[in-house]
Amino acid sequence: MKKIPEGEITFTNNISVTDYNELRKSVGWILVAPKRAEIALNHSFYLCVAMVENKPAGMMRIISDGGYSFFITDVIVKPEYQGNHIGTALISKALDYIEKDLLEDETVMISLMSAYEKEEFYQKFGFHRRPYGNHGSGMSVWVTRDLSGHVERT
Ligand SMILES: CC(C)(COP(=O)(O)OP(=O)(O)OC[C@H]1O[C@@H](n2cnc3c(N)ncnc32)[C@H](O)[C@@H]1OP(=O)(O)O)[C@@H](O)C(=O)NCCC(=O)NCCS
Repeated sequence: MKKIPEGEITFTNNISVTDYNELRKSVGWILVAPKRAEIALNHSFYLCVAMVENKPAGMMRIISDGGYSFFITDVIVKPEYQGNHIGTALISKALDYIEKDLLEDETVMISLMSAYEKEEFYQKFGFHRRPYGNHGSGMSVWVTRDLSGHVERT
């Protein structure tokens, strides 16, 4: 891990498709087709990118209807920069962004799908590991169209 002085981490609100896929690749995630990635990034409700030496070191996005539902996704810190509290700064910014607009006596739901064994990181911010109360487990499915045109859910 590279130790980065806090003052050398800056934040911006945009990222190129190439840099986005570069961050994804750094943590072993599948790459997103450029056309699809561009749509995804442009439709972010809130996008925050941590910069170190003028290069993206991490990112986070919120996708939302802008009203009641908020979903935190694409939380990535490059492996060499992990452990510098960049992830903490990104999630804190996401929560601040939503909480600043809450009126008195209002409640909204913020969701996310934790990657395997990252639950503890999110629990520090108050997220509950599901199932919890009357909430069941989160669910997801990969949908792939293969080269022969066949669509498969795995
Ligand atoms: C998860 C991730 C974003 C954390 O980013 P980070 O910048 O390394 O995290 P921070 O330095 O802010 O860590 C904050 C705290 O969480 C702890 N933490 C981090 N990852 C953890 C984990 N997997 N399990 C338990 N605790 C963890 C840290 O030890 C630290 O504790 P402290 O406040 O007591 O010092 C980063 O590890 C990552 O990008 N991983 C690969 C991609 C991924 O899985 N993303 C999550 C998608 S849901």
